Amino acid sequence: MTEDKKPNKRIKTQASEPTVLAFLCNWCAYAGVDSDWISKFQYPPNIKTVRVMCSGRVDPVFILEGFLAGFDGIMVFGCPPGDCHYLNGNIEAEKKINVTRRLLKIAEFDNERLYLDRGSAGERQRFSEVITQFVTKVRERGPLELDEFVKRKLQAVKGVLEGEKFRWLVGKSKVLVEEGNVYGEKVSQEIMDELLDEISHSEYLKNRIFLVLKEKPLTTEEISRSLGMELND
Ligand code: FES
Repeated sequence: MTEDKKPNKRIKTQASEPTVLAFLCNWCAYAGVDSDWISKFQYPPNIKTVRVMCSGRVDPVFILEGFLAGFDGIMVFGCPPGDCHYLNGNIEAEKKINVTRRLLKIAEFDNERLYLDRGSAGERQRFSEVITQFVTKVRERGPLELDEFVKRKLQAVKGVLEGEKFRWLVGKSKVLVEEGNVYGEKVSQEIMDELLDEISHSEYLKNRIFLVLKEKPLTTEEISRSLGMELND
């Protein structure tokens, strides 16, 4: 993964503008942005781009680190279906973005600040248009309010995304739905979605509890009060 500042060189960033982090697949978006740059298409000044070899390389943990670093919006740009140089990296990317958005929603975080799009290098100006539209959308939503409360929630989401149990399930979900387990038993998409929901909720709560207990010992009642949760949860 390499970092590039090409679009940022165009216009000086203004402090009031939202900051957006864009992960660009080398083979489509990055190439498109590159030719846009040569063609002098305008880009918003507030984009920080990261070139990745495939959108499937974007670990959801990077996204949480981006929000925790203060980016107001994050986008991932990959190749169209059937065009990924690594077969199904773009499909994996979609799956990862969907679970991340689901977790952000559980954490009551505005998940519209995370966006996935696809396009081929030949679409040229489309990249600047999509990026500009996303920056406009983020601007309308206002700056990300990253106070301690929000930070703790995002850290809990990051903890879920780093967790072995969650990663295993997300990694295996497609196989379990399409091919089945070692006995050839398939899981319906509906059951898989329910399972992902259940595990997302329980892992998120577990991580929130873990984070408050890292600060100081608390009783179960104090934990529930501090997190605004039901004691039974
Ligand atoms: Fe572009 Fe996989 S190579 S998304």
